[in-house]
Amino acid sequence: MTDAKKSAPLTVIGHRGARGHAPENTLLALDTGIRLGADWLEFDVQLADGELWLMHDLSVDRTTNGHGLLTAMSADAIRALDAGEGQAVPTLREALDLIDNRAGVNIELKTWNGCAQAVAAVLRDVIADGWPAERFQVSSFHHPELWEFHALLPQVPIGALICGVPLDWAACASELGAQILSVSSEFVDDKLVRDAHARGLRLYVYTINEPAEMQALRALGVDGLFSDFPDRVPR
Ligand code: G3P
Ligand code: MG
Repeated sequence: MTDAKKSAPLTVIGHRGARGHAPENTLLALDTGIRLGADWLEFDVQLADGELWLMHDLSVDRTTNGHGLLTAMSADAIRALDAGEGQAVPTLREALDLIDNRAGVNIELKTWNGCAQAVAAVLRDVIADGWPAERFQVSSFHHPELWEFHALLPQVPIGALICGVPLDWAACASELGAQILSVSSEFVDDKLVRDAHARGLRLYVYTINEPAEMQALRALGVDGLFSDFPDRVPR
């Protein structure tokens, strides 16, 4: 490993906005992530009642005062939810209006019910309005859904999410046409970093909240960290 590689700046990605500081996947969390200096903001989206909503779990129970599956709810019922600290469950368009190109936007697809097409339609509009396509990244653990998104809007970079190490290492991301491979922290090692870099991919790691682990991953040569506390990532 070279010294240059060790000291390369890390891309700081606020996880679910900045969920260490504000209710996850809310406008407050996104605004907080920007205020704390995140380069990018990651949030999860699901398609329900024809609209894209920021929500991680399939059920609304953990993060709101409601009950049941988000995808089974009407838009009116979702709008009535309290996501904490008086925050609503925002739509993708509301999130983009709030961010207003002040940070990069990593949209993670969480449902496979037309989510890719719906996200592509929204991004096509905002890109036509002048927001650069490179300021977005669309990611998913569901690689076929990601493939579908990539075919619809190839100018938007995609990130392959994995929680494990495939037999062919980072090849799955290359085959998708991804620019980024994002992996859960317990599976990151020097061989995976080197394989990703040899394939021209950036290697991001989730979800890192402890400064010592941030430093260790930086020394390993990873390119970016997802953190609930983007203010803790060393610059
Ligand atoms: O995108 C990184 C990370 O958010 C993936 O896991 O479960 O937090 O969506 P999860
Ligand atoms: Mg996520």
